[in-house]
Amino acid sequence: MFENLKPTKTDPILGLMAAFRNDPRKEKIDLGVGVYMDDSGHTPVMTAVKSAEARLFDEEHTKSYQSIPGDSLYNDCMMKLLLGDTHEILKTGRVSTLQAPGGSGALRVGAELILRAKTDATIWIGTPSWPNHVPLLGGAGLSIRQYPYYDTNLQEIRFDEMMETLKQVPRGDVVLLHGCCHNPTGADLDPTHWDEITELALSKGFIPFIDIAYQGLGKGLEADAYGLRTMASALPELIIASSCSKNFGLYRERTGSISFLSDSSHQAEIVLSQAKAVARQMYSMPPAHGALLVALILDNETLRIQWQNELEQVRCRIISMRSVLVDRIKNNSAGVNFDHIERQSGMFSFLGISAVQLERLRKDYGIYIVSSTRINLAGINSDNIDYLSESIKSVLS
Ligand SMILES: Cc1ncc(COP(=O)(O)O)c(C=O)c1O
Repeated sequence: MFENLKPTKTDPILGLMAAFRNDPRKEKIDLGVGVYMDDSGHTPVMTAVKSAEARLFDEEHTKSYQSIPGDSLYNDCMMKLLLGDTHEILKTGRVSTLQAPGGSGALRVGAELILRAKTDATIWIGTPSWPNHVPLLGGAGLSIRQYPYYDTNLQEIRFDEMMETLKQVPRGDVVLLHGCCHNPTGADLDPTHWDEITELALSKGFIPFIDIAYQGLGKGLEADAYGLRTMASALPELIIASSCSKNFGLYRERTGSISFLSDSSHQAEIVLSQAKAVARQMYSMPPAHGALLVALILDNETLRIQWQNELEQVRCRIISMRSVLVDRIKNNSAGVNFDHIERQSGMFSFLGISAVQLERLRKDYGIYIVSSTRINLAGINSDNIDYLSESIKSVLS
């Protein structure tokens, strides 16, 4: 049987990571991989997470299965983190939340639930988007359509074209939106955009599916949730997939959540029962460790403040790397403008150089960037900024 299988193409990011690892140059820089790194180039365990782990080590008394929806304190804390402690929707019983194996698992549970509700469902995904959106959502069986999102020449959101396309979306279709820190562009919808899309969703009857994997890394924990909170207030139905990989640094612990907003509490119970059946079919129960840590942190004032301070440092470091990079490369002989990098949010932006220049960065300077020119701003630090900016300027000339 297995002889029928052909090898799959290597994921370009994994291929790039391997090439980076095998590059013997000491000065090499990895701007490809999508994880946060501190100024020493390390992806740290947050102190709040370490403290929560110490507590968990003492207090955990069983490794028995969790329930299918996962830890209820975690689910409550995540709903409050996403929607705000006092969001009126939390009192209505209209939100069903399940712990999920990372943001990816959350997206997949969301997709499978949509298919249970509507076997011929279509999801509209912006171009460009996180490259894993199509395999995760399309792989579940959803039909994929695209709407224009970003202009790589002007380095800005194509909002008018996006709205023109969304006006054509049939009632009952699903529209995927990035909650904040758009991956790969870094170009986020502003509050006016969110308000307009919310009105359109209401009048056209499409259902937004918000993927929020970077809450707190863009404009702050509250501001980053503007879009989803606005939509939760206004719309009868909404889906939210969240990830704690980046904002808690829990990448390998596979910690996320999926929330469904239904138009009544009765409907929400049915949705929850179906979502539990989806999870049961795929992985039964979610992994516990990361979610228990997040619950310990969010439910404890001291740990929560510690975490918020650490997250704020992460956010500020990324913002400062954006400014430093733009400042260092703005006076280039080719006159290329990089101001968009300073205007954008989160870990990513497009550098916007040509494929030939990108290849020269890799070959001549050992600087690894994915072919879309998406750079991870957190890969920049005080040790490599001089070398990086001089290298970029030299391939531009
Ligand atoms: C936009 C977006 N959504 C979801 C995810 C999934 O995150 P996780 O690692 O928690 O599966 C990522 C991770 O890079 C992402 O960038």
